[in-house]
Amino acid sequence: MLVTSLELLEDAKKNHYAVGAFNVENMEMVIAVLKAAEETKSPVIMQTTPGTIKYAGADFYFANIKAAAERASVPVVCHLDHGNNFEIAVSAFHTGYTSIMIDGSKLSFEENISLTKSVVKVCHAGGVPVEAELGRVGGKEDGLDNTKTENPFTDPGEAAEFVERTGCDSLAVAVGTAHGVYKGVPQINFDVLSKIHELVNIPLVLHGTSGVPDEQVIECIKTGVCKVNYATDLRIAFTRGIKEYIKNNPDAFDPKKYGVVAIEEVKKYTAQKMLLMAKKF
Ligand code: 13P
Repeated sequence: MLVTSLELLEDAKKNHYAVGAFNVENMEMVIAVLKAAEETKSPVIMQTTPGTIKYAGADFYFANIKAAAERASVPVVCHLDHGNNFEIAVSAFHTGYTSIMIDGSKLSFEENISLTKSVVKVCHAGGVPVEAELGRVGGKEDGLDNTKTENPFTDPGEAAEFVERTGCDSLAVAVGTAHGVYKGVPQINFDVLSKIHELVNIPLVLHGTSGVPDEQVIECIKTGVCKVNYATDLRIAFTRGIKEYIKNNPDAFDPKKYGVVAIEEVKKYTAQKMLLMAKKF
C-alpha cells in the first residue's frame, strides 16, 4: 500500500523506532528494497534525489515504487529526497510522490523558512507531508557540496523556531554525519541531537547514514531520530553484485543474470538495516 510518511513517522516517534529510507536508482533497487521490506515485515520509504530523477524521470520512479507498493503487504512511501527548489518539490508532488523533502539548508535562515513554507502550503493542501533541513549535513550528495562547511551543526534553538514557523512535518538535522563514503569513523554530536530532541516535537531525520556504525544509529533513534537515510551503501552493494558476477562469468550479456545478483546484494544490506530500525528502543 502506498502511504504518506506522516502516519509512518508519527507512529515511529510514538513507539520509539525508526523507518528506513533507501535511495533507489533503478527498477532493480526498487525490487530489492521491496523484497527486504516484505522479508522483515517493515514499513519502508523509497526515495529519489533530483539527480536520480534526471536520470529516468520522476514518473518512471513513481510508477516503479507505486507498483512495488501495490504488491507489498507493508506500507510503502514514495519520497523526494533533497528537493532543492520549489519547482522540483511541486513537480514531484504533482507526479504523485507521497512525501516531499525541500532542502533549503544552503540558504539563509529566513530564506530557508520562506522556501519551506511555500512548499508546505502546496503539499499540505494535497495531504502530503514535508521534510525540511536545517544545518548542513557534510559531504557531497547529488551535486550539493558541503565538504568545506565550517559550523555544520543544526542550532537547537533555531530548529524549534524553524519548525514552528514553517509547519514542516519532519526535520533533517546536521549532527555530524556526512553523505558519501567516510574516511574515518563518523562522530555524531549527541549533545546537539538531544538538545534538538528536547526542543522540537516532530520526527527527526538522519542523513548520510551509510558507514555509520549501527550502535550510533541506535543511539540516534533513542534520541528522536525516526527516519534513517541510506544511499551510498546501496550503490556499493548493487555494483559489487554486478562486478562479482561479471568477474566469474566474463561472457555474460543478459542483464537479468547479473540483475538478480545485484538485487540480492541490495536486499541483504537493506534487510539488515530494517531489522535494526524496527526494534523498539
Ligand atoms: P548516504 O549516501 O551517506 O547513505 O546518505 C544518504 C542520504 O542521506 C540521502 O539523503
